[in-house]
Amino acid sequence: MSETERTIEAQQIAPLPEKLISRLCGWYERKRRNLPWRADADPYHVWVSEIMLQQTRVETVIPYYERFLKRLPDVQALSQCPEEELLKLWEGLGYYSRVRNMRDAAQRIVSPEGFHGVFPSTVEELLTLPGLGAYTAGAIASIAFGERVPAVDGNALRILTRLRADTRPVDQEKTKKAISAELSELMQEETENYSPGDFNQAFMDLGSAVCLSHAQPACGACPLGGSCLAHAKGREADFPVKGGKKARAVCDLTILRIRDGERILIEKRPAKGLLAGLWEFPNRPGHLSEKEALADVEALGLLPLHIERLPAAKHIFSHVEWHMIGYEIRVAAFEGRVAADRKAELITPEELQEKYSMPSAFAAYRLPDEKKYVSDRSAI
Ligand code: ADE
Repeated sequence: MSETERTIEAQQIAPLPEKLISRLCGWYERKRRNLPWRADADPYHVWVSEIMLQQTRVETVIPYYERFLKRLPDVQALSQCPEEELLKLWEGLGYYSRVRNMRDAAQRIVSPEGFHGVFPSTVEELLTLPGLGAYTAGAIASIAFGERVPAVDGNALRILTRLRADTRPVDQEKTKKAISAELSELMQEETENYSPGDFNQAFMDLGSAVCLSHAQPACGACPLGGSCLAHAKGREADFPVKGGKKARAVCDLTILRIRDGERILIEKRPAKGLLAGLWEFPNRPGHLSEKEALADVEALGLLPLHIERLPAAKHIFSHVEWHMIGYEIRVAAFEGRVAADRKAELITPEELQEKYSMPSAFAAYRLPDEKKYVSDRSAI
């Protein structure tokens, strides 16, 4: 009996269904989605798509993915991309450290001290790159290089815990590791030929089309329906089990949209911490009254002419929620008045749209005269 089998037996978790690999791969062959990053198995394409798809829906990712590859068609191009341009390409996707890590990783791949321009092909090598964890390394190694390794994301966890009515909490690292190890063992043991990349992607497609998370799952269309313990007990909604997370901290903020006739004031966030190095509208902790907001603007050496309340908005990060109120404050010409020690810029709405990367947390306060600003996140 293997280590995994012993653990499973001790915890009374049902075994994985018979012929899981061939049943899932067969279903995937018939039903796979036609997605741009599936047109070939180029590891750079797989990598870019997998990083973008973390925390972001497929439909949102597609235009970002296409624009990114047009501008940065290979690892070499990514390794040389200036930071501001990189952040602009990522604007709206959130979690900007992902793309900074990608550029660092690209620099390692192309460097003579790193991989000499040859894309690393095993999970072991991929895990040495910044920003690559077990899931992404598994996805690239299996999809682009055919390595028999799992890529366990939220879809795989939901499907596998439902199949076995498995009550292990999926938000614990221990559970993810154990389920990955179980899948890994299954993948190694399979004697038939199969595509490990297709097997992993089958979970992604099944999870998004059939074994749905919130909506009622479409169990009638599931290739594994007959083997699903949660379905047999009518308890699909009870899985996956979550251990419960700490409540998010709430942070009240006042956003100041400060404009003269044609320009707007933006500031660069600190180089470390949340949304590091991105551009933002000036903002202050707490919910300021009109009077306090005006005093704040005067303290910048500006002369306010008019103040107007903007709608309240909320943005949810993983660990904190911003509850924002805002004011638009029209000021007399900015010239020479904004203190030089602030990392601030005076720019036109067109420049904001074209050049400066502003996180979607500020989407509700973008300018009505920015013609085509679109935010993927509906957190407002
Ligand atoms: N979600 C994460 N990776 C994916 C992929 N390769 N295809 C579809 N959805 C995904």
